Amino acid sequence: MNTASNSGIEDSPPPRRQPLTELEVGALGTRKTQHLEICLDHDRYRVETGSTGFEGVSFLHRALPEIADHEIDTGTTFLGRPVRLPLFISSMTGGSEAGYRANKELARAAQATGVPVGMGSIRILFRKPEVFDHFALKKIAPDVPVFANIGSVQLRDMNHAEIFEVLRRLEVEGIAVHLNPGQELFQSDGDRDFRGVLEAVLRFVSSCPIPVIIKETGFGLDPLLVRTLLDAGAAYLDLAGSGGTNWVQVEAYRAEAEERAAAEEFADWGYRTGVLLAAVGRLPQAEGRILASGGLRTGLDLAKSLALGAHAGGYALPLIRAINEGGAEKAIELIARYEKVLRTVMMLTGSRTLAELRSVRLQRSAAFQEAVHALLTALEWDPGEYGGA
Ligand SMILES: Cc1cc2nc3c(=O)[nH]c(=O)nc-3n(C[C@H](O)[C@H](O)[C@H](O)COP(=O)(O)O)c2cc1C
Repeated sequence: MNTASNSGIEDSPPPRRQPLTELEVGALGTRKTQHLEICLDHDRYRVETGSTGFEGVSFLHRALPEIADHEIDTGTTFLGRPVRLPLFISSMTGGSEAGYRANKELARAAQATGVPVGMGSIRILFRKPEVFDHFALKKIAPDVPVFANIGSVQLRDMNHAEIFEVLRRLEVEGIAVHLNPGQELFQSDGDRDFRGVLEAVLRFVSSCPIPVIIKETGFGLDPLLVRTLLDAGAAYLDLAGSGGTNWVQVEAYRAEAEERAAAEEFADWGYRTGVLLAAVGRLPQAEGRILASGGLRTGLDLAKSLALGAHAGGYALPLIRAINEGGAEKAIELIARYEKVLRTVMMLTGSRTLAELRSVRLQRSAAFQEAVHALLTALEWDPGEYGGA
């Protein structure tokens, strides 16, 4: 899957700055704890904004599907390993005690349901190696793909060889690199300088000894970047579009009232996950390499993602909230529900395999079609060639 060379660890240029000071490590732990509190307390905080666009897509029901339940196969591969379902647990948490507890439960749910699981950013490990156990999810989920996570800005500022060494110790199957400029701009101590990050990401992708996933965190990867990164050999591009958790909102809840007012203006920012997927899901290089996430909330959202060309779909907020409510068991129940819906959609569309589901005809609302068309036109991409109408 990963077309990057496996030539091993390369010499990176010296880091531009030390990863984190003592004070920053403390602040990072506090920030992660607050993130979790804000995301979990849906009575007090509204962190989900916009819409994915999936509401504008529907399946054509088949009254005579002519297949049997036992023929339906939801199996696929992820990071080179076979998995039961085209579903993954998106990168979340780590770096705080509450995060660690949640991480362990997420990993337990992943192991029980046979789905891949990500973890939150491992940045803190480079300054506080004693929290290594927070990220040692492979011990809890030995039979499913586990992937680490790091920020793209850190790839510019840190020595890649050090990161590769930590990945080796974590025994993970892959690493997700997150792009989150919107979120950083609403953090009082967030990054403000994004120069040189693309070059660092490309260098990382080409020398990382394990597959690299590039992801956004809720505003979507821009289509031109998707193309560049596919060409550069990233294993998967996780769109992480809008319509779900909005990280500008999350950060704004930690800030003053004025910041909150500014954040409100970004409620509809970014590429809606379903619309973006319709625009890039059928790129020739994209086959089997586009992941859909950002605002997936139902089993039907997952089925629509696959039908629009995604290799798999990811959930963050619903699963962390399930863990908070009832631990791994609650998350397992939720994943079972997504599976039940996916299998039912496959039956009712006459799809024995995921490949067949990806080729079913879809009904798209005029508004959805218009949104995809507007995006392709803005990109100067031919709607006849892309968009898979
Ligand atoms: C509590 C929480 C912590 C998160 N931490 C990270 C992180 O460390 N790294 C990352 O790439 N994304 C992180 N995310 C973003 C998710 O991976 C995902 O891209 C985003 O929340 C959109 O998906 P959703 O709408 O299903 O929540 C986090 C999300 C949540 C809810």
